[in-house]
Amino acid sequence: MLETLKAQPADKILALMQAYRDDPRDTKIDLGVGVYKNADGQTPVMRAVKEAERRLVAEQDTKAYVGLLGDPAYSDAMRQMILGDAVPADRVSAAATPGGTGAIRQALELIRMAAPEATVWLSAPTWPNHPSIIRYLGMKMSEYRYFDDATRGVDFDGMVADLDGIAEGDVVLLHGCCHNPTGANLTLEQWQKVSDLLNAKGAIPFIDIAYQGFGDGLDADAAGTRLMAKNAPQMLIAASCSKNFGIYRERTGLVMAIAPEAGMKPVTQGTLAFLNRQNYSFPPDHGARVVTTILNDPELKADWMAELEEIRNGMLALRRQLADELRQRSNSDRFDFIADHRGMFSRLGASPEQVERMREENGIYMIGDSRMNIAGLNARTIPILAQAIVDAGV
Ligand SMILES: Cc1ncc(COP(=O)(O)O)c(C=O)c1O
Repeated sequence: MLETLKAQPADKILALMQAYRDDPRDTKIDLGVGVYKNADGQTPVMRAVKEAERRLVAEQDTKAYVGLLGDPAYSDAMRQMILGDAVPADRVSAAATPGGTGAIRQALELIRMAAPEATVWLSAPTWPNHPSIIRYLGMKMSEYRYFDDATRGVDFDGMVADLDGIAEGDVVLLHGCCHNPTGANLTLEQWQKVSDLLNAKGAIPFIDIAYQGFGDGLDADAAGTRLMAKNAPQMLIAASCSKNFGIYRERTGLVMAIAPEAGMKPVTQGTLAFLNRQNYSFPPDHGARVVTTILNDPELKADWMAELEEIRNGMLALRRQLADELRQRSNSDRFDFIADHRGMFSRLGASPEQVERMREENGIYMIGDSRMNIAGLNARTIPILAQAIVDAGV
């Protein structure tokens, strides 16, 4: 049996991480993997997470199974954080999942069960795991234009023109905020237009929100998702706590399915429980319990929000510094988009050859499509990167 297996293509980001580790130059700069790093290059455990874990160790008296959907208190706290009061709770079914990736997988499995013929529409470009899982599940997929290579902003006309071709019952996957890999995001007006368009077409929005709090703030980053939830009869959401709580390895996510009416909740919720059961039975609990402890304790929540704001503002400052530095060194404003982008990533718009040249000559590691992790920068490395970008002729 095993002899029939074929080698799977290496994950490009993980291969890049390895190449970075193997590079002996001490001037090298890692802008690859999507993990937040502070100015010292560390990915620290957040203060509120440490405190919540301390309390859990002291107070938790069992490790018995929780439930197929995870702890309802976790789903409730997350629903409130993401949706606020945009939709009544009795329309929302939710299940804890292993990370945001687990939530995406479960949402896709639900779509495949309910509408096997539906096409899932993805932004071009998108996080590579989206098409990879869809392909693996044997589902239909298509792309809508999203990024304008010339302006490095959203190609909204192209997006609307492509979404005009969707069929009733199709699913449109949107990034809730901090688009990965581009950093270019929809304005609220654009969210409204997309929402109206999907409703008119009878298509179902599916929102992947993995960076809430990394862009313009916790509420602002969820504004598009909330707007859409208010308008759409039904919708799917995959959320991740990896970045905003800094608990990457704890695998903490949530899948939500918003039904047109409360009466549908038992079957929808039961389906999410069934899908968890088929794939891994009970979802991981530790990260979810940490998140619940933080969100339900006013003091811990305030401290977490303050630290998240520090992280967010730090990334915004790095964006502004890099844009300023590039403005001076290139004698132009063509890199100002870096300050307009939001979240951890920006797509620089460099060619693969230019990306390669920066790696060889300057030890700068970014993904081949020129996605940069802004959090990989600091005051010392920004001028080095800016000069390398200009020298590479970007
Ligand atoms: C767009 C997007 N969605 C979802 C995820 C899921 O992350 P995780 O499975 O680590 O929670 C990520 C992580 O990189 C992401 O960038």
